[in-house]
Amino acid sequence: MTAATRILGIDTSCDETAVAVVEEGRRVLSARLSSQIGLHAPFGGVVPEIASRRHLETLFGLLQEVLEESRSAGPPQAIAVTQKPGLIGALLVGVSAAKALAYAWRLPLVGVDHVHAHAYSTIQDRDDVSFPLATLVVSGGHTSLFLMRSALDLKLRGETVDDAAGEAFDKVASLLELGYPGGPAIDKAARRGNPHAHSLPRGEVKGAPFDFSFSGLKTAVRYHLRGQDLSQPARVLEASEVADLAASFQEAVVEALLARLLRLAGEEGAAGVAIGGGVAANTRLRERAAERAHQAGLPLYLSPRELATDNAVMVAGLGFHVLRERGPSGLDLEATPH
Ligand code: KG4
Ligand code: ZN
Repeated sequence: MTAATRILGIDTSCDETAVAVVEEGRRVLSARLSSQIGLHAPFGGVVPEIASRRHLETLFGLLQEVLEESRSAGPPQAIAVTQKPGLIGALLVGVSAAKALAYAWRLPLVGVDHVHAHAYSTIQDRDDVSFPLATLVVSGGHTSLFLMRSALDLKLRGETVDDAAGEAFDKVASLLELGYPGGPAIDKAARRGNPHAHSLPRGEVKGAPFDFSFSGLKTAVRYHLRGQDLSQPARVLEASEVADLAASFQEAVVEALLARLLRLAGEEGAAGVAIGGGVAANTRLRERAAERAHQAGLPLYLSPRELATDNAVMVAGLGFHVLRERGPSGLDLEATPH
């Protein structure tokens, strides 16, 4: 049997239904994404039940589209699916579909870790990678700092003890009434603000130099809005005050993330630094990461902006390597939330 190179990837871990066909772990033959943002926006966050139902409605149509678009290259030779972590009901839709296809088409099935896929997307289209990398995955559900010795070998060195970075963006955007999802809204509002207008905490965790804490930062923003008495209603802010708070909050998150990332790179003698996950789309984070990596004399691997947020290109891509190195998962593959 020749090795599978053309992989169909599926991700239904949260609020995007994503499907892609990718060759050799990197060449995208077709990719589709259906965002559910509009459905969840009225609730200010992802409603798990709605997410699962929507995946069920959209997945089949997207599959037909990518299979049609990639048809001239030949059919997929394996199926990769996000197996963890995520919303359990949402994951089950993708895992069940992937199993059915693998069984019907007699193809190998491979389960992929969504957070590792975000880490892989930082190097997916790069030829020139030297390991190890200090790699940060910053998304709505995760803030994880890894020492990455290869595409498959990730050692967790730090994580958030409370909110994930993206979650902090979403919560602070909601406090500032900037809408949902909060990351892009704060990114935009912050461009008109002064990042040094307010000095906000950087979320150090005692005794754990690589861990993150963002809940104090969120509370600090709330104090700015309501004074010390949180039972009082929030003040109505001028647009410039909102911009200053958004910029100062964003600056605190960005500096907290980069401080840990570069410290780990230094301590481990890493050959480069990498950042993936939805928050890696952030303009200020991308700018400051480039500056800090340059100062440290290290190459920077950033997920392309459009592949920073959830997608199936990274899942099919990592699936290629997992399959090659570790072989397929069985049809008893489980979906696990953590
Ligand atoms: O990776 P992702 O699409 O989903 C998860 O796996 O969680 O990340 C979504 C998160 C959301 O919290 C969103 O607000 C944040 O990424 N995000 C951003 C930006 N774009 C998306 N945060 C800051 N700046 C952005 N431009
Ligand atoms: Zn994600």
